[in-house]
This record gives sequence, C-alpha cells and structure tokens, in this order.
Amino acid sequence: MISLPEYPDLQVCVLAAGRGKRMHSTQAKVLHKVLGRAMIDYLLHTVEELRPKGIAVVTGHASEQVRAHVGQPANLAWVIQDKQLGTGHAVKQCEEVIRDVRDVLIVCGDTPLLRSQTLSELVDTHRNNDAAVTVLTAEVDNPFGYGRIKRDSDGHVTGIVEEKDASDEERRIGEVSSGIYCVRHDVLFDLLHKLGNSNAQGEYYLPDIVPLALTNNHRVDAMPMRDVVEMIGVNNRVQLSEVEDLMQRRIIHDWQMQGVTVEKPDTVRIEATVNLGVDVVIQAGCYLIGSTRIGDGCRVGPNAVLVDAWLDDDVEVFAFSHIHSANVGAGAQIGPYGRLRPGAVLGEDVHVGNFVEIKNSVVDRGSKINHLSYIGDTDMGSGCNIGAGSITCNYDGANKHRTHIGDDVFVGSDTKLIAPVEVNSGATIGAGSIITKNVESGGLTLSERPDQRHVGNWRRPTKKKD
Ligand code: UD1
Ligand code: CA
Repeated sequence: MISLPEYPDLQVCVLAAGRGKRMHSTQAKVLHKVLGRAMIDYLLHTVEELRPKGIAVVTGHASEQVRAHVGQPANLAWVIQDKQLGTGHAVKQCEEVIRDVRDVLIVCGDTPLLRSQTLSELVDTHRNNDAAVTVLTAEVDNPFGYGRIKRDSDGHVTGIVEEKDASDEERRIGEVSSGIYCVRHDVLFDLLHKLGNSNAQGEYYLPDIVPLALTNNHRVDAMPMRDVVEMIGVNNRVQLSEVEDLMQRRIIHDWQMQGVTVEKPDTVRIEATVNLGVDVVIQAGCYLIGSTRIGDGCRVGPNAVLVDAWLDDDVEVFAFSHIHSANVGAGAQIGPYGRLRPGAVLGEDVHVGNFVEIKNSVVDRGSKINHLSYIGDTDMGSGCNIGAGSITCNYDGANKHRTHIGDDVFVGSDTKLIAPVEVNSGATIGAGSIITKNVESGGLTLSERPDQRHVGNWRRPTKKKD
C-alpha cells in the first residue's frame, strides 16, 4: 500500500446527476454494481483516500436513491442539479459549497476503476506546473464516445472536442479526455460562468473551460495516465461488464498477493465485499458473493457458490456446494453438493455430505449428516450421526415446527422426524422409522416395520422379442 499525501486545500466535485440513459434502467447509473459494490461507493472511497477538505456530489436524476444509498458522511455536501444541462452546468451548481481551497478536483461518478494514486499525481502535476486547468488524458485504441484532446504543433492542448461535435479527422485522434480535471478554484467559476451551449448536444460542456482558460491567458496542461483502463466510464451495460472484468482481475491479484491461491482465476467471481484469510484455496468456477468471509486455510470448490457465508478456519467446501447466509465452524466439511440455507449454523468439525440441505438449524461440534438428508428448524447437539435419507418434517402445510436432537444421537437411515419432536441425548433410532413422539435416551427406538415376504417361484420378466 503506497501512502498518499493529504490534500486539505482540495475540494472534490463528483458528477453524478446524469440520467444514464444508455443504461436503460430505473436505477441511478452510479448505483449500478460492479462486483457487488455500487459504482459511487468505489469513487467516494477513492477520493476519500486523498483526505480532501470536502466532497461535493452533484445529483439530479434519481438523487433520492443515491442519497439514501450513500447516507451522510460528515465531509460530503449534496448538490442538486435540477436539469441536466451538461457537465459544465453540473460543476457550476457547486459554487456555493466550494470555499477556501486552492484547487477543485472534478471526477465523474461512473469511473469505478480510478485509483487515488492517479488522482494524487494529477493534483501534484497540476500544482508543480502552476497550471490553472489540468486534464487527465489517456491514449486509447478505441476513442469512440470520448472527448478528443486537441493539441497544436508544439503539443500544447488547445481544446477538447466531443464525439458528437468532432469532424472525421478529429475522431481519429487517439488521445481522449478522462473527464477528470484539476482546476484552480480562483479561476474555475469565472470560466464556468462564461460557458456557452452552442454544440451538438445543446449542453454546457465542462471541456469548454479549456479554450476559455487559454483565451484568458491561463496555463492549461494535460497529464496522460499510465494505466488507461482507470478512466473507462460506464455508460452502458457492455462497459459495465468490461469494467467488472477488469476490477475482478485487480481484486484477485490483490488477494493472490495476500496469500490466497486462486485456481483458474478467469472462471472465478470474488466480489469486492468478500474477505479472505491466508492459505485459502479458491478452485475453478467458484462464486464468492456479498459479505462472504473465509477463514485461514479453507479450501473451496470447484464450482461452489457462497453468498454471505461465514467460514471459520480450515473448512473444506467440496465441489458444487451452495452456502447462503450460513456459518460454518472450523474444520467442518461440506459437500460435494451440500446446501446450507439461511440460518444454518454448524459447529467445529461438522460433516455435511452430498445432497444434504440444512436450513435454520444449529448443528453442534462433530455431528455428521453425510448423505441425502433435509434438516430444517432443528437444534442438534454434538457427536450425532444422521443416517442417509433422514428428514426432519418441519412443515405441516401452514406452520413450521422445531426438532430438538441431543448429543450423541444415532438416527438410522431413512428416518422421518415429524416435528415438533424431541430426541434425547444418547438415543438410537432404527432405520426407516417414522418418529412422532419424543425419543428416550438409551436403548433402541423404532417404529413398526412392514412384514417382509419371500415369493419363491417368482421369475424375473424377460424382454419381448418383436
Ligand atoms: C464525458 C466528457 C468527455 C469525456 C468522458 C469521459 C463532457 C461534455 N464530456 O462524456 O469529454 O471523454 O466524459 O468519460 O463533459 N453529468 C451531470 N450532469 C449533466 C451531465 C452529466 O452530472 O448535466 C454527469 C454524469 O452523471 C456522469 C458525468 O457527468 O457521471 C459524465 O457525463 P456522461 O454523460 O457520462 O458524459 P460522457 O458522454 O461520458
Ligand atoms: Ca461517461
């Protein structure tokens, strides 16, 4: 982790008022998620790392949604742009809330890959060059949709032309604007007041402060960025998935550097909100979603799906298991094809085998449910062995009922426990039983079994020839 300087004389302005028309969504664009985290959250976290004096966020379209999502951090001011008349108009709405700073850093809410290190370099370059306006640019293979940077024969920036206003020749320019600027506070609003809107979109373009600054004899600079993917703006869902892929590589790389083994990383999804310990092994095709936390030494996969799952240390989750809102104790083993549903809480060294489903149940240390069972609304003690195909019948069609199982209970295969029912510690239940009454500890409990007959002269059918 590189430590950044702090910028107490810098104000950040985040533009997030646009409709995001190209997303075709009822949700504000900046609330769309990249690996489980809203775009605006990435951006606010990134600019926070600069420790600026304050952050102004311009919202307009669906602003209530955005505010409700972000809440009210102490140094954050909300600014409303009623009509989305352009990026320049958006920044102008911040005039009242930006006070007593040297520079204003303007960023867009739709660039989640942006790094604080890059922003820090932009501000430092801007200050070292004594510029009035510095724009962060990128040399890209496909400049489509971005504003192109125009330079004169000496290489000085002369302006920025938007895709829709550009001539064919201008469209061939490969250097584009990231939409990110550092502007001296004492010139910014002067320039914004001078903006016009006679362009293809009839908008007040922020990029037009560049020629305006030059006419007013201010110095304008451009800083090309090193890692151009940082500036990718999400305007549609194709870009959303591109950004997600890039973010995924970054997140997996970070975990690998912190002691996590990821097999076939291109097949794995690890959301931004997930936490992993050291010596964790994530095998191919795993999905780790939401608030999932995985303790040291766990092995997960292949093709396991974990949603808001908490695993203590040294847990093994075998192939194709699905764990959702469940806690798993240290050393436990799940699957293959295990399913833990919300409210499953497993103690240390519990074994849950193939095709076993557990819901809203506590299973204590060392108990084993190894094959083809359903355990729902159950409290199970330690050291139990639940035979193959056993089921807690927890639902009468209207209400759910609990099953209580003590310690050291042996349940024979294919037993049905009709809840509410209690099985005391040390009980043994014979295979195939249907248990409707409480079971005593000790001895053997079993329900009546149907008679077994033998038909001696019976022949196996043979296949007809046609
Ligand atoms: C913008 C830039 C372009 C740059 C590109 C980088 C302008 C005119 N164009 O284009 O030079 O290459 O970003 O990604 O600045 N917004 C408002 N209010 C408005 C309009 C927009 O807050 O009235 C916000 C949007 O929510 C968005 C940001 O400003 O976060 C950029 O707007 P967007 O429509 O995405 O502009 P681009 O076409 O991407
Ligand atoms: Ca954009």
